[in-house]
Amino acid sequence: MLIRKPSKLDGSDIRPSEITSKANYMNRRQFMEAGLKAGAIAGSAGFAGSALAAVVPEERRGKIPDIVDSEFSTDEAPNSYDDITTYNNFYEFGTGKGDPVRNAQDFEPRPWTITVEGHAAKTGTFDFDDFIKPHTVEERIYRMRCVEAWSMVIPWVGIPLADIIKRLEPTSKARYVAFETLNDRKQMPGLRSRVLDWPYREGLTMEEATNPLTIMAVGLYGETLPNQNGAPLRLVVPWKYGFKGIKSIVKISFVEKQPPTSWNMSAPHEYGFYANVNPEVNHPRWSQARERRIGQGVFAPKQPTLMFNGYEEYVADLYKDLDLRRNY
Ligand code: MTE
Repeated sequence: MLIRKPSKLDGSDIRPSEITSKANYMNRRQFMEAGLKAGAIAGSAGFAGSALAAVVPEERRGKIPDIVDSEFSTDEAPNSYDDITTYNNFYEFGTGKGDPVRNAQDFEPRPWTITVEGHAAKTGTFDFDDFIKPHTVEERIYRMRCVEAWSMVIPWVGIPLADIIKRLEPTSKARYVAFETLNDRKQMPGLRSRVLDWPYREGLTMEEATNPLTIMAVGLYGETLPNQNGAPLRLVVPWKYGFKGIKSIVKISFVEKQPPTSWNMSAPHEYGFYANVNPEVNHPRWSQARERRIGQGVFAPKQPTLMFNGYEEYVADLYKDLDLRRNY
């Protein structure tokens, strides 16, 4: 299928909502008005920081209110809702691209808790709604480049991880942030396979975790995050290969040492801790110079992969002293 922009818009002011789910969207004005009210409420409830209180409905495809636009969004046309929700990697539900959408339908992402551990003042177990409430949700339309050499453009709804981290008050001993996915055999049939050492684990340096591009996604196309995309809460780090974007997170730990990460543990010569998108450093079994944009048809030419997935200006500084060939 070809990605088309609606003819009346023809460019920069296109919103993903106008491509697939217009009827489900509030207009911008309503967003802003609701936002001002929510800000007043949040202010009176004594939340520090963000003006809007994040609320994610429990129902599937529930509309998320008070979404704010972001300067970090790309104006490339997003993939369709169908592409993003039917072509997935989520090995807890099977290793085929179509397995997650098939096998995650009975998964229950609510109620949900997130446990925060390690070097921070605010540790403990938080209910999902309380965890996100102090924050503002933003739409972030990001490119996603999978290490398997395909890519998509995805309109996430999320919260800057830097805002969440600030609230949790890590100490100076916290040099890395480690994340874990739920490990529940009753709900996740893929866990019976030994394809990875479960639970799925990922990690970032503190500088990466607090970079303004890094978000915790809670939604897609203005709606609740689908199960197969990592409901209710997943990491999105757009300059890194997609496998860093750990799904259905239940634990966040502030640690001193570089934490073990799933794909690195499984095949250390193929997948590193950093996993920055880099067209010049090939995977041992294939080139990373080009990528296939999902949704453009199998005969569409592959497009060049960009350094740091096109986010170089925001992140190159983080790696100025690092040999990116050794630290792949
Ligand atoms: N998180 C968990 N828990 N399990 C997984 O198998 N796959 C990763 C990442 N997060 C994965 C995961 C990989 S390889 C990719 S490319 C992205 O999720 C895919 O995200 P998407 O299905 O939402 O496009």
